[in-house]
Amino acid sequence: MSSWARAAVVWLCAMVMTSAAVAMPEGLADLGRPATESEVAAWDIDVRPDFVGLPPGSGDVWAGEEIWLAQCASCHGDFGDSNEIFAPLVLGNITEEDIATGRVASLTDPAVIRTTLMKVPTLSTLWDYIYRAMPWNAPKTLSPDEVYGLVAYLLNLGYVVEDDFVLSDTNMAETQARMPNRNGMSRDHGLWSVSGGPDVSGSPCTTDCNVAVTVTSSLPDYAMNAHGNLADQVRDWGPYPGLWTEEKAEQEPALLASVVAVAAVAPEAVLTAGGCSGCHQMAGQLVGPSFDAIRAKYVGQEHAPYLRDKIVNGGAGVWGSMPMPPMPTVDDDALQQIVAWLTSGEE
Ligand code: HEC
Ligand code: HEC
Repeated sequence: MSSWARAAVVWLCAMVMTSAAVAMPEGLADLGRPATESEVAAWDIDVRPDFVGLPPGSGDVWAGEEIWLAQCASCHGDFGDSNEIFAPLVLGNITEEDIATGRVASLTDPAVIRTTLMKVPTLSTLWDYIYRAMPWNAPKTLSPDEVYGLVAYLLNLGYVVEDDFVLSDTNMAETQARMPNRNGMSRDHGLWSVSGGPDVSGSPCTTDCNVAVTVTSSLPDYAMNAHGNLADQVRDWGPYPGLWTEEKAEQEPALLASVVAVAAVAPEAVLTAGGCSGCHQMAGQLVGPSFDAIRAKYVGQEHAPYLRDKIVNGGAGVWGSMPMPPMPTVDDDALQQIVAWLTSGEE
């Protein structure tokens, strides 16, 4: 267990002991149970910048490329260069000079597109992030070996390592010494030196802190008031009033009414298994439009062939410039169910 995780557990124990000492309110005394060893182990996956927490394993560039093409390329592009779903991860514009100095020189040029590999100073962060958060639609499904391979592939795309490179728990430290921007960030915080201070500075406000804060929002019009008027949800103990969303409320009902009238049940399991839910939710825009909005637009069987094609082949331009990637792995049955449901509204 890393010292951070241990600290958290100790802190929890301290809380329990403290509360026991002040006597728990009636009925709360036996609330909860201690986390089991395996629960803590599943949660305790952080990899520190000094590589404590890194699981043993290895993966080479070629293995990484295969996993990349199957599980990552649809969103990040074949070479990590896509600018559609997220900013490019790698563009191959890192120089030998950058690797030698540990500072990516072109970061000082405001016109240059900043990629993840140009910015991230710590290899552990890249490793840890992918292991815990990617692929976006199925986080925590990658094995350590797969993550080693993926990181090796990304480093290879950035010319940081050779084609025959194998990344493993035993050469992470020496590979860190080639990270292009390893010297480009402040090290004066706990994210770099685990014995250092926290990574934010500033002093906490303890008196006269109730300064009014203006919240601005880029909510699209159709989403205004989707959760009631945010301004009514002001918390009485904080200075943060919500945005006033009420005037726009009339814009949604027509759409909502047609959706509510539909009785068909969403094939939730199929949508999740098919990887759709990472980008679409029932109500409200995510990466793609909400299923409510799609269903309202394509009422009637005549739209089925078009939707089936679009799901298999992907495409852009109907809802905005963000493309939907091709989803060729969804099988015919699943496709049938999804399309039937999407078009099942009443006219
Ligand atoms: C369904 C789309 C999708 C897939 C598939 C996907 N990603 Fe991502 N990825 C994203 C999005 C969106 C973000 C930004 C997430 C955020 O900031 O909350 C992201 C962020 C990242 C980042 C962090 C970039 C940064 O600068 O913060 C890395 C690294 C990454 N992805 C690697 C991968 C790898 C490796 C895979 C395959 C195992 C993968 N992604 C699969 C959508 C995807
Ligand atoms: C990586 C994100 C992403 C994933 C994964 C994804 N979609 Fe999409 N989807 C989009 C985007 C973005 C659009 C809007 C495209 C456009 O403007 O044409 C879209 C549009 C659609 C549309 C409307 C098409 C149109 O032309 O009006 C349907 C239907 C749809 N998606 C179904 C699905 C289904 C079913 C799945 C799972 C099998 C899925 N999507 C997976 C991002 C995604």
